[in-house]
Amino acid sequence: MSHSNFHTVLQPKVQGSWNLHSLLPSNLDFFILLSSYAGIIGSYGQTNYAAGNTYQDALAHHRVAHGHKGISIDLANVRSVGYIAERDDLAAALRTEDYMGIEEAELLALMEYSCDPTLALTPENCQIITGLDTAARLRRRKITEPLYMNRPFFSQLYALDDDEAGAGRHASSSSSAPNDDQSAGGNSEPNYGHLLSSAGDDIDEAGRIVADGLARKIGAMMELDVQDMDTAQPLHRFGVDSLAAIEIRTWFARTMKADVAIFDIISSSVGIEELGRLAAGKSEFVRGAEEGGEGGGGGGGGGGGKGDV
Ligand SMILES: NC(=O)c1ccc[n+]([C@@H]2O[C@H](COP(=O)([O-])OP(=O)(O)OC[C@H]3O[C@@H](n4cnc5c(N)ncnc54)[C@H](OP(=O)(O)O)[C@@H]3O)[C@@H](O)[C@H]2O)c1
Repeated sequence: MSHSNFHTVLQPKVQGSWNLHSLLPSNLDFFILLSSYAGIIGSYGQTNYAAGNTYQDALAHHRVAHGHKGISIDLANVRSVGYIAERDDLAAALRTEDYMGIEEAELLALMEYSCDPTLALTPENCQIITGLDTAARLRRRKITEPLYMNRPFFSQLYALDDDEAGAGRHASSSSSAPNDDQSAGGNSEPNYGHLLSSAGDDIDEAGRIVADGLARKIGAMMELDVQDMDTAQPLHRFGVDSLAAIEIRTWFARTMKADVAIFDIISSSVGIEELGRLAAGKSEFVRGAEEGGEGGGGGGGGGGGKGDV
């Protein structure tokens, strides 16, 4: 992201909100900031937008701390009205989050609540976050937990509403249920067991199969068009951070029976193509994999063990 792109998005949120805060009378009946849950859950490729929204959240807290009205509503994707609803391409691109979206009626109800001049605002109620769901409810709806829920910040979502006694954390994401590969928007994946087995002992072909699947996996995770991805580039160039690397490692293990080190996945010197070959070399589905897998990066050492996450 260029400096200019960062600021173009940040400015209306930061400077615009600050201007309203500074210039409007101090005795308002209400002051509502339409923020986004992108600032809470993170949004790949949108750090500028996420930062702008957390600024709005902080401004609501700032106002309340100084005895003024102020409330930020961290909106999930609004389904029926607004910028996302009006753009078919965006609505499709954001479909992975659609189950968390809110309806116009819900938005209006939140606005009505927030406009109430008698509402006593405190640090506890001056920021409303929409779109999050509890782990138990996601399990009931057979939705794979989104990646962000792995962060300790969201641990309360596992404690709330857990009426399924004994249901363990990450039950849905670590199971091998048939719908387990739907974290990228419900798309089913090819059977890599068959594909890799059919490559026989051709490690180059197996590497291409894995690299192709990996590019599509990263594209789906990061909402990138695979056609635009230079597969010679390392994964961090596409926004793969350590958390995303863990998901990719699990994906390798589950779909390709390949134990790939986090070190190799986040290495700045290993591109998608090379990582594909390396993973193919480790896959139980590929004949002669042991020999083929030796060409990879630092799978051993401190970063390659099964428990290195
Ligand atoms: N739609 C969603 O699903 C969604 C989800 C999460 C959060 N939100 C938040 O909800 C708010 C409204 O979203 P929306 O979907 O209604 O967006 P929208 O339809 O694009 O409306 C954005 C509004 O902001 C104004 N604006 C944009 N850039 C500006 C600038 N530099 N200076 C002054 N005004 C500017 C636009 O003015 P003009 O009409 O004059 O261009 C427009 O009235 C945003 O803060 C967004 O972050 C929306």
